[in-house]
Amino acid sequence: MNKKKIKVMTVFGTRPEAIKMAPVVKVMENCENIEHRTCVSAQHRDMLDQVLDIFNIKPDFDLDIFEHGQSLTQITSRTMEGMEKVFKTFKPDVILVQGDTTTVFSGALVGFYHKIKIGHVEAGLRSGNIMSPYPEEANRKLTGVITNFHFAPTKEAKENLVKEKYDENKIYITGNTVIDALFQVIDNDYEFKDKFLKDTNFNNKIILLTAHRRENLGKPMENIFKAVRRIVEEHEDVEVIYPVHLNPKVRKIADNILKDMDRVHLIEPLDYVPFANLMNKSHIIVTDSGGIQEEAPSLGKPVLVVRKETERPEGIKAGTAKLAGIDETNIYNILKDLLKNENSYEKMANAVNPYGDGKSAERIKDIILENLL
Ligand code: UD1
Ligand code: UDP
Repeated sequence: MNKKKIKVMTVFGTRPEAIKMAPVVKVMENCENIEHRTCVSAQHRDMLDQVLDIFNIKPDFDLDIFEHGQSLTQITSRTMEGMEKVFKTFKPDVILVQGDTTTVFSGALVGFYHKIKIGHVEAGLRSGNIMSPYPEEANRKLTGVITNFHFAPTKEAKENLVKEKYDENKIYITGNTVIDALFQVIDNDYEFKDKFLKDTNFNNKIILLTAHRRENLGKPMENIFKAVRRIVEEHEDVEVIYPVHLNPKVRKIADNILKDMDRVHLIEPLDYVPFANLMNKSHIIVTDSGGIQEEAPSLGKPVLVVRKETERPEGIKAGTAKLAGIDETNIYNILKDLLKNENSYEKMANAVNPYGDGKSAERIKDIILENLL
């Protein structure tokens, strides 16, 4: 029997990374050929801990860098300093990072400085605009340059990397681990524990709203919320549920434009299990989130992507997502059409799954074993 163990460290720091890395952590922990450790930067605190609790992940290393309103430079430098100490202690053979946040790039860069191999989960997403999403598009590209294993979620993501002349032998199509996580928590008979959600009348048309992107702060976010406001004013059977991101800049805009409305419910960020099941029970989703764009298609929910461009074209090609932009009238018109026109709704409400089959984490583990054992 092969007694050799590969030392793998999974690194993450924000809510979406935690959700997408949770299945990877579980698979790594259960593999007898892998000695695994989890390291969190805690770029997010509350929103990260919510996910750790749900998936019962106890980080081996917690850099605890969270502070309100930190600059990107502060997040980067504090993550790098903390991560360096951790890497010196555990000495991983390979670190796994996920996606495009500041934690991802900072962690990968420290790995590179220590000549540790880097596996990039969700590699190859490109919007084509370095300023949008900001700074995420740059984080992905910068991470790609120093990555040894590119775990591309889709064929399109692989093609982006091939176009950038990355070695094809180092690019693997794995699916997106977000689907692994989603499959673990969706239950068509799910009953909410939260009183407000329990009492929600799902016979009304529920629009689930989320918005948090930095490039949308200010006028674009105001436009999005104003469009939603007009829709609610004109449609008595519509209710909006918006679990508001903890960023105070987002909260201020949401409060200013939406707080006074009876049928708009501004609530705290939800735990992943109720949130995913709320998506499943909603009528339409309006979002600038990356992860939600990937989850909603498998649930057959029309998604309006309220951004100028997306690095996730697969949902749009499949017909469940529409790039609605950040213009108030355009968002309003698309929403109105979806609410009034059954044909338009049915065309978008198809359950398709361009992002994976729920086995991505297993594939990532197998690729690590094939290459490093
Ligand atoms: C980060 C990621 C973004 C990802 C998002 C997921 C970067 C540059 N951006 O953006 O790609 O889509 O996370 O949500 O890495 N806050 C809290 N508690 C928390 C989390 C955030 O209070 O648990 C507040 C703080 O005031 C914080 C602010 O939100 O300063 C912004 O957090 P930050 O991590 O800087 O960026 P996000 O906008 O969350
Ligand atoms: N999500 C959650 N609770 C919420 C809102 C979102 O658990 O109140 C989940 C959502 O299902 C998705 C992820 O968080 O998996 C997306 O995170 P976010 O939108 O913050 O970041 P992005 O994906 O845009 O980077």
